[in-house]
Formats: sequence, structure tokens, C-alpha cells
Amino acid sequence: MPSTITEWPHVDTALPGPRSAELLDRKDAVLQGPLRDAENVPFVLGAKRGHLLEDVDGNVFADHVSAWGAAPYGAQPPHVRQTMNDAWDRYGMEISQYLSSEPVVTLAERLVALAPAGITRVAPTVTGTEAVEGAVKLAREATGRPIILSFLGQYHGESTYLTASVSTDLPGNTSGIAQYVPGVVLIPYPQSFRAPFHQGPGPYDDTLCLDYLEDWVLRYQVEPGQIAGVLIEPVAGEAGILAPSQAFWDRLTSLCRRHGWKLLLDEVQTGIGRCGTVFSAERWGLEPDLLLVGKGVTGGGQAIAGVMGTEEMMADSSSHLGGTYAWEPAACAGAIAGLDLLADGSVLANTHELERIALEEFLPLVSEVDEVGDARAIGAWACLEFVSGRDSVEPAPEFQHAVHLGAMRRGVFAISEPSKSLYRMQPALTIEPELFRWSCRQVADAVREVAQRWM
Ligand SMILES: Cc1ncc(COP(=O)(O)O)c(C=O)c1O
Repeated sequence: MPSTITEWPHVDTALPGPRSAELLDRKDAVLQGPLRDAENVPFVLGAKRGHLLEDVDGNVFADHVSAWGAAPYGAQPPHVRQTMNDAWDRYGMEISQYLSSEPVVTLAERLVALAPAGITRVAPTVTGTEAVEGAVKLAREATGRPIILSFLGQYHGESTYLTASVSTDLPGNTSGIAQYVPGVVLIPYPQSFRAPFHQGPGPYDDTLCLDYLEDWVLRYQVEPGQIAGVLIEPVAGEAGILAPSQAFWDRLTSLCRRHGWKLLLDEVQTGIGRCGTVFSAERWGLEPDLLLVGKGVTGGGQAIAGVMGTEEMMADSSSHLGGTYAWEPAACAGAIAGLDLLADGSVLANTHELERIALEEFLPLVSEVDEVGDARAIGAWACLEFVSGRDSVEPAPEFQHAVHLGAMRRGVFAISEPSKSLYRMQPALTIEPELFRWSCRQVADAVREVAQRWM
């Protein structure tokens, strides 16, 4: 079949190139600590088009970050741009919390229509972090109970309050204050590759964490009647695309019913097509009490997020969420346009094809390269997990970082943090399968190259 790709990645300078180096030095001098990351991201963005990024030195990379999932239809989808610009021309900036407009109402209706059974209402926010904080408020308000049960390894944002304490995706605490936040109980996130109190790689039964919950946490740490809700990502993204089993969901759901816990499903990253369905709740037949959206819901336009919930959780709630910028009209219009794009079934069909390609290209690496512990993919999301050697689960962050550098030299830019052993590809849902397969092969070549050096 002839190629449909008109422009391919190419990296022609050392990284960083001269212009990037100059800007990175300037950035280093003025930005806060964690943003001084030139070693991990050794270039500065010059322009984006389609599924490509161009740096200020003219190097071109395939974009497997897609603004961390917030640009799900490529760089500047024309329908989103047009709709958003028209709305701004008409309404300008407005505080929708106080003065509503049609895009606000239509977006809420469209989201409710797409949501799992039982979800009837929406509370607007700007960011996913605020959506998580808002959901916790609502769960406490509805139940009158203080405790939130959550999972180690998840990510929910970086506020100074709850999301900081439950964002445990990095090897160390993400915030020095996390441990001082009361009202949170954490258990390990379900997974089959590694299990607490077990040595070596699985496959393990991922409901073991619920044994721990029932046999230890509920017996010795917290009474079930004190727990307001369970805050969980349906697929843990920052933890390396961990997708729990149906058995886990069935047992968690029945615990929720038995103890009156609300299910707070954080779909900020998994929702709006990322996992191959509009919401990943659909995959396991989940009916959350609260469902959090963000990232992909922007359509790639402006910042927008929200808490969706059932009548019971939201109709008579008096908790205030959101703020000045929540759901300003142009952001809503962009989000509606994004949902129009998703409604064309070809976007979700493309994510299924991407999942198939990722597994086809990456699974063989697990048996071929000792340091590739596991390869996982779901929808438009793929992850390689590196370990110190065969039959080990000891994380190998240096190996991962070297793969990331090798992939960038080959023109592939994906999600990598130097302290982590996880390499993640999170392209737009619409990336061309041909460009995606090419990118996977570049990454596989980088893995082989690093493995040669590691011996
Ligand atoms: C699952 C999840 N929840 C919440 C957040 C926080 O969203 P935001 O960065 O929009 O505040 C993120 C961000 O990555 C996320 O992945």
C-alpha cells in the first residue's frame, strides 16, 4: 500500500541543537526545579503539525506525548479550532459559574449522554486536579464519612491537599507535604506483573491487594463505615498502563455495595477514547458514582475538566467546585467539537489498530531482551517496563532513560521520567498506524542498542 505519510521525522543535529541549547539555558535560569529538565527533554518546541513536533533547530519528531493526552486529535484539528474561535468571537471570556451560555449546557448534555448508566450531572472545573479534589468533597458530603481509600502508584495531580497525598507514581513522594494529609488510606494498585509480599515477576492474581485490604487494612487500620469512597484510575497511567482484571472490579464493586463506599473513577487520563472506548468504565461494566474527566475532553483546544456524577451525588449537593475559568464558553465549544470528532467511529477504530500494532511490535521484546520485564498496551497507549534482568522486578530507570534518549535520536518523542523504569507512548488517538508502527520499531531498535551496551 502506498504511504499516506507526507512528512517523516528526522533529527539532524545533536540534541539539544544550538537554538534549543540557548533556550534551555535561559529556561534553566528562571523556571522552578522540576521544570529544569533539559537532560530528559533536550529540545524546545518550535511548532506542531498533525502528529509531528518540530524543535527550534528544525528537528522533527513523531509526537507520542500528545500534550500528555490533552491533544487527542493531532496538533490543531480544524473543526476544534473553528468552533472554538467562533465561540470566542461570540462570547469572549466569561465566568460560566455565574453567567451561563449555550456551549456550557450543550457540553454537559453531550458528556452525560456518553457517560455510563446512572450519571446525570456535571460539575465544571479547569483541571483534572481540581476534579479529583471536587470528587472527594462530594463523596464526603454525600456520605458524611471522612476517609478516602486509594491506591499506591496512581497519579491524581499536584495540589497541596489530597491529590498530592494520593499521587504516588514516583519512587519518592511527589511532594514533601504528602504524608501530612489526613483522611487517606492507600493500598497497592492491582497488577499482575509484580505483587506486594511476593518476589519476582508474575503473572499474579491482581485481587491480592483486596485480600490485603480486607484481611489487614479493614481489620486493623480503618473501619469500613469510616470510608466515604474509593478513588481509582480504571487503568493506572503513570504507573505504566496497568489494567485491572474483571475479577478485581467485580470484587471491588461488591465491597463498595456492602460498605456503602462511593466509586470515584478517575478517567482524567483514560477517558474520551484513550483506552479504545469512550470511557474505560465501559470495558468492565463499571457504574461509578463520580466520574472525573479532563485532558482528552479538551479536544486539544483549551483547558477544561470536570466531575460527572449521579443524581444522588449531585442533585442536592451544596459543594462549590470549579472557579473563574471553569468551562469558559470557547473551551466548552472546543470540547464539543472534540466530541464530534470522537463520534465518528473511525477514531476509536484507529485506537484498536494502534493497540494491535503495539502488542505485535513490543511483546517479542519481552523474550528477546532480558531488561524488558513487561510490555503492555490498551487503545492508544503502550508501555515498556524495564527491569534489572530476567526474572527480576527490580526497576531499571537508567536503562529506560537510555532507551528514551535513543528513541529521540531516531525521531520518536514519548513519555519518560528519569527516575522511572517505565517508557510510555501516548500519541493522539488519530495518529496514522503507519507512523505508529514506524515509531514502535525505532523504540525497539533503541532497546536493542541499549541492551548491547548493557551487557
Ligand atoms: C489520572 C489523572 N488524574 C488527575 C490528573 C491531574 O490532571 P491535571 O494535570 O489536569 O490537573 C492527571 C494528570 O496527569 C491524571 O493522569
